[in-house]
Amino acid sequence: MSKREHWGSRFGFVLAASGSAIGLGNIWKFPYIAGENGGAAFIFVYLLCIVIVGLPVVIAEILMGRTTQRNPVGAFRKLGGNKFWVMVGGLGVLAGFIILSFYAVIAGWSAGYMVEALQGKFSSFHTVTDSTNYFNSLVGDPTWMIGFYSIFFVFTMAVVYLGVKDGIEKGSKIMMPILFIILIILMIKGISLKGSGEGLSFLMKPDWSKINGSSILIALGHAFFTLSLGMGALMTYGSYLDQKTNIPNAATQIVFLDTLIALMAGVAIFTIVFATGQDPAVGPGLIFNTLTVIFGNMTGGYVFGLLFFLLLTLAALTSSISLLEVVVAYFVDERGWRRHRAVLMFGLFVFLFGVPSALSFNLLADFTMFGKTFFDLADFAASNILLPLGGFFISVFVAWIWGLDKAMIELKKGAENIFKDGDWLINAFKIFLKFIAPVMIFIVFLHSTGLLESAIEQVKNYWIIILVIVILLIVISRRRIKK
Ligand code: TRP
Repeated sequence: MSKREHWGSRFGFVLAASGSAIGLGNIWKFPYIAGENGGAAFIFVYLLCIVIVGLPVVIAEILMGRTTQRNPVGAFRKLGGNKFWVMVGGLGVLAGFIILSFYAVIAGWSAGYMVEALQGKFSSFHTVTDSTNYFNSLVGDPTWMIGFYSIFFVFTMAVVYLGVKDGIEKGSKIMMPILFIILIILMIKGISLKGSGEGLSFLMKPDWSKINGSSILIALGHAFFTLSLGMGALMTYGSYLDQKTNIPNAATQIVFLDTLIALMAGVAIFTIVFATGQDPAVGPGLIFNTLTVIFGNMTGGYVFGLLFFLLLTLAALTSSISLLEVVVAYFVDERGWRRHRAVLMFGLFVFLFGVPSALSFNLLADFTMFGKTFFDLADFAASNILLPLGGFFISVFVAWIWGLDKAMIELKKGAENIFKDGDWLINAFKIFLKFIAPVMIFIVFLHSTGLLESAIEQVKNYWIIILVIVILLIVISRRRIKK
């Protein structure tokens, strides 16, 4: 077998992994869910989730990858997992497959809007109704949808085709700095607008009344998605590392960059939205409907609109390549395929699988299963079921099956400094990974599948029965003690 590919440098790995993490989740989703859930207070909860649950699982995934030098399926197997655990790895590969198929659809919208921006379309929007109607007519057009979906897909496949070092790493080294610079330009523009202060205070002054159980779970679920956790994307990227890399350091940098970019996108978007008196809590249409009207009517809006959608497309591309790479790594490691063949075959396969998702907004809009279109179903199956389950199993596996003792021996490689002078950090990491992460992730899973709500409902209905059972138990246990 030929030697496994490796990253050219540690920095290249950090950029590629940040590229996976930074995507539509940061620039499209984070601002609108923060807007819907009360701004600063939500962001505070989100930051807690990132540190308490996100970082430990990021470290666990990268560590599994680096130790085994394998894709998720091979990683579980090599660390002594039985059939069940190998299947968990397989679910990760499946999740990558499914997420890529609908992720590329939205990324296609972004690519399409770049072309609209180029043609100066936004200046014909005067109200949000104009932009919304226009948006609906675009996604209602199967040719437009499939067209940009395909273009985006070809770019994704091309980068992965070129390989880990010459494709993914090099691509990230070009795209990530551009992304960063564009975001800084947009932020400066936003802050310099008159009335932008209100947007900033929306992001910094917490409205605690908006925080409840549901928004906390949304924050935790998003922390997961935005860090690309739960399906072995970071595990796969970690498998191209050598044993000398300091994982805790690299993981902290990745998590920091991902959070920084989400916050910067929040600043850029909310300063612009508030300065022009628009509603911050409109939901998913915040970017395609609200922002486009604003770009269409402000000085320099042509350039800023174009830059914005370029930013969004690049962010999506560095994420989609990580999704495809998981699938490709599986076929290369486990089935002995050549990379080129795996990319072409499975790129095409995932592409075809995503076509019904792209058509969910037009031809197949009325075709629903369980009340969901194909697109919603793919999104739900992956984001609400497969990812939380995967994250749960990954933390349980590392903490309980592989075992923290063995994992710590591996983690120490390259990170001797942290183990020497930061033992409390290591202990905190162990506790988070062993107890806090699995419990919290499991609650998210119950919530996002609707099981939590129905469990609570049940409890409400049957609280008398439960009370009786509890009293019975107490009585029984007292009797035992007496005897
Ligand atoms: N993290 C990316 C985003 O924020 C999406 C993503 C890429 C992802 N790879 C993933 C999500 C793997 C879950 C798993 O847009």
